[in-house]
Amino acid sequence: MASTSLVDFCRAEIAGLKESRTYKTERVLEGPTGARVRVDGRDVLMLTSNNYLGFANHPRIVDAARGALGRWGNGLGSVRFICGTQQLHKDLEAAISRFFGAEDTILYMSCWNANEGLFQPLLAEEDALLTDGLNHASIIDGVRLCKAKRFITPHGDLAGVEKALQEAQACRRRLMITDGIFSMEGELGPLRELADLAEKYDTTLVVDDSHATGVLGRTGRGSAEELGVMDRIPVFTSTLGKAMGSAAGGFTTGPAPLVDLLRQRSRTSLFTNSLPPAVAAASLEAFRMLMEDPSPALKVQSNALYFRRRMKEAGFTIPAGIHPIVPVIVGDTAKALAMSAALFEKGVYVSGFGFPVVPQGHARLRCQISAVHTEADLEEAVSAFVAVGKKFGVV
Ligand SMILES: Cc1ncc(COP(=O)(O)O)c(C=O)c1O
Repeated sequence: MASTSLVDFCRAEIAGLKESRTYKTERVLEGPTGARVRVDGRDVLMLTSNNYLGFANHPRIVDAARGALGRWGNGLGSVRFICGTQQLHKDLEAAISRFFGAEDTILYMSCWNANEGLFQPLLAEEDALLTDGLNHASIIDGVRLCKAKRFITPHGDLAGVEKALQEAQACRRRLMITDGIFSMEGELGPLRELADLAEKYDTTLVVDDSHATGVLGRTGRGSAEELGVMDRIPVFTSTLGKAMGSAAGGFTTGPAPLVDLLRQRSRTSLFTNSLPPAVAAASLEAFRMLMEDPSPALKVQSNALYFRRRMKEAGFTIPAGIHPIVPVIVGDTAKALAMSAALFEKGVYVSGFGFPVVPQGHARLRCQISAVHTEADLEEAVSAFVAVGKKFGVV
């Protein structure tokens, strides 16, 4: 039986979360995700999903998953190195390597696991690990598990990064990691400048491109392709849970010896089951589809630009950018949450985020645009925003 004091502690914490309006509730979808989803018996426009390419319920993706269940079974009951590797996993790793122009790739159950298992095998006390203060929580946890000397630089402070790199010259080896896209802002990381600094100070640059793989760039290769520095980023981590199938999975891709060492020593790969075959097959199909035809990436990019322009014309405050994450800044946390509820009533499903997830006074509705949205869908969203924005005095 759990001790009364522990249960009382949980009860008090939950009460605190509710009082500070940071207690999260889940809406229950009654079917698959897409441009529209069914919730509480009605169809609403989905504006808060990472299904950037619309692959989550694409017939080719669903068929690939279904076919894999028949051919490869539900799972392997094992980690990769014991008896959890099928040709499917090797094929997916090879496809990802080809997509990134990298030597090798290791799959994980999630990008969370990829990030958490990255640093500790590569760096020890004598080494340096540099990370942007706004990097994703999985990077923060991975950094915590590694004994290297940490340099956490304020978000976007390139002078601070250079100073940290100068200090880190005393260390044996240096690794620097950044998000390719910062997910609350939809903001591109300064990859060109970081690549310059990494080269100047003999440092390995890693980009977590979870929100940009399949989304940005001429062929969907991500933030580095968008910024013209694809060949200057030696290591990427990314997810299969957003654009590339939307189910689960993650990976690290880069130089063969680095990936090989991760296979030997990365604890979040070694001690957890391999990716379920249906999930691996669906993501393999996603990479094949995008390599055959990058038009879904181009479509989500043009949809994002269209929505950004129309929302600005309507008078909303939208930070500059190009990404399909489109933050609509409303200031106050209570207002963001109330607007999210009002938009849902108008048939638009969009999440509100406030303090402490974003800085005080910068609460927002975070819209996420997909390739499967039509212009009519986006216009419907803008109209709903205008109606709700007027009611709440935002426009
Ligand atoms: C930048 C970044 N890294 C990692 C992750 C985790 O991805 P996964 O869902 O595959 O664990 C996310 C998910 O939100 C993310 O935004």
